[in-house]
Amino acid sequence: MSRLRAFLDASPVAAVALSLMREATGRAEPLAPIMPARPAALRRGERVGFWSLCGGVGSSTVAALVAHRSAAGGEAPLLADLDRWAPSLALRAGLSAATIADALLQPGRERELVSRWSAVAFLPGAPSLNHGFDALRLVAVIDACAAGRAAVLDLGAGADALDPALLASLGRLCLVTGTRAGQLQAAFCAVPLLRTAPCAVGLVVVGAEGDDAARIADRIGVPLLAAIPTDPYLADDSFAARAPTLRAVDTLLRALA
Ligand SMILES: Nc1ncnc2c1ncn2[C@@H]1O[C@H](COP(=O)(O)OP(=O)(O)OP(=O)(O)O)[C@@H](O)[C@H]1O
Ligand SMILES: [Mg+2]
Repeated sequence: MSRLRAFLDASPVAAVALSLMREATGRAEPLAPIMPARPAALRRGERVGFWSLCGGVGSSTVAALVAHRSAAGGEAPLLADLDRWAPSLALRAGLSAATIADALLQPGRERELVSRWSAVAFLPGAPSLNHGFDALRLVAVIDACAAGRAAVLDLGAGADALDPALLASLGRLCLVTGTRAGQLQAAFCAVPLLRTAPCAVGLVVVGAEGDDAARIADRIGVPLLAAIPTDPYLADDSFAARAPTLRAVDTLLRALA
């Protein structure tokens, strides 16, 4: 496909198509590809966490999109919901299955308890995780379930989700923010909490285009990984996304590579 595309791009057909497009749309720049290119995949063994100080910014959604897109680009990662107050990914997946709390109770059987959400290996969360939270045991469960694959962790929201042992197991922590005043305020307030994080930290802005997201990252002082646009399908709570959203997730995956 890419060889055919390269051939067509180099042929006079491309120049004719471009001038027809300019005439019809008045736009000088080439149209973005309608079909997203093959996504990048997380490296084997890579571990990425998604977190926000305040809830409702789109953190779980971005974590799930990253896991699914990465699965489409290579080996499917493990997606684990570690939100110990309001785990929501199983609801999003339409799944009722064994949870990470079950895996903690059955040492040696963790891998049998992993479910599938399409191609992604998925470990749903449990509110009971909140009682006697033991980060080292959680990391051991995730190690066992990931079995060398990449892992995407939804850490939930709030300061107490930033457990040092959990953070130490990550290659990257993605601070996720929305663009509403309260959400941006929370992102600013999150920065001091992340200063001593033992892993690299990057920013994902949901509901913004690239330029605005770059300005937000600049002001917050955390490197921008990606800007995820507002997506009417995601806003409607269906787990489907438009092509520009998938391209933004691909940008995020490349930034995480
Ligand atoms: N890119 C987007 N465009 C539009 N709506 C979105 C987008 N991403 C997420 N949403 C919607 O925003 C809401 C919150 O998303 P999500 O549950 O991922 O946030 P969260 O930060 O994990 O929140 P919580 O604190 O509940 O864990 C959901 O209804 C979701 O469908
Ligand atoms: Mg969430």
